[in-house]
Amino acid sequence: MRQVMVAGNWKMNGSSESVKDLMVGIKAGMSAVLNAEVVVCPPAVYIPRVSGAADGSVIKVGAQNICDQDNGAFTGEISGAMLKDVGCDYAIVGHSERRALYGESDELVARRFAAARRNGIKPILCIGETLDERESGVTNQVCARQIDAVIALEGVTALADGVIAYEPIWAIGTGKTASPEQAQQVHAFIRGKITALDADVGAGLRILYGGSMNPSNAAELIGQTDIDGGLIGGASLKADDFLAICQAAN
Ligand code: PGA
Repeated sequence: MRQVMVAGNWKMNGSSESVKDLMVGIKAGMSAVLNAEVVVCPPAVYIPRVSGAADGSVIKVGAQNICDQDNGAFTGEISGAMLKDVGCDYAIVGHSERRALYGESDELVARRFAAARRNGIKPILCIGETLDERESGVTNQVCARQIDAVIALEGVTALADGVIAYEPIWAIGTGKTASPEQAQQVHAFIRGKITALDADVGAGLRILYGGSMNPSNAAELIGQTDIDGGLIGGASLKADDFLAICQAAN
């Protein structure tokens, strides 16, 4: 059985005050969240504060990125050991905003995935196609290429240590969600591709959907056979919306 997971990607939003309030709100509603694993990914500077607030609750903390190197002269980067040190269990790698706005290649993302693993952090590997790519019918190829970079570096069994988040770029922050059928098709493709290489890894791998998931569409999306939860951007910034998605995941 794959445990459903709901992860909030707060992106570059918030302040000391607002992250405190958000955590108070989320924690207050957690007793109604029975089955889902709940993760929040704050901006890096707020991770210690959020980890402290999450202490003693079931909420886990993730980073929005992780350096591919372990220490040294890498200005502006944060290592896996540092993230572990401040309480991270997860790290997002290869978010489309990192790929598109900061030029992160499939290979760099794969190295970040590897860095998470060797530091005992579970990577959340984001993949997904642009609108152009979808309209040209290459969605599956794009997702396969992004996954293959990780498999080439780390082997297929490495995927068992992480989570994949399928996030069609045209659905991120646009209010335009993939239909449950569209999402399920790609999720089934991803699982099928991995299962063909390793049946156990394919069966056990959690594949989240991301892209304008909200309280009104979450249950139907997460209800699809191969959708094991969500990576939530905008709706994770409001405690009530985030909790409603967590409850839908039950
Ligand atoms: P969104 O973002 O929910 O605001 O579309 C999802 C994401 O970027 O992870």
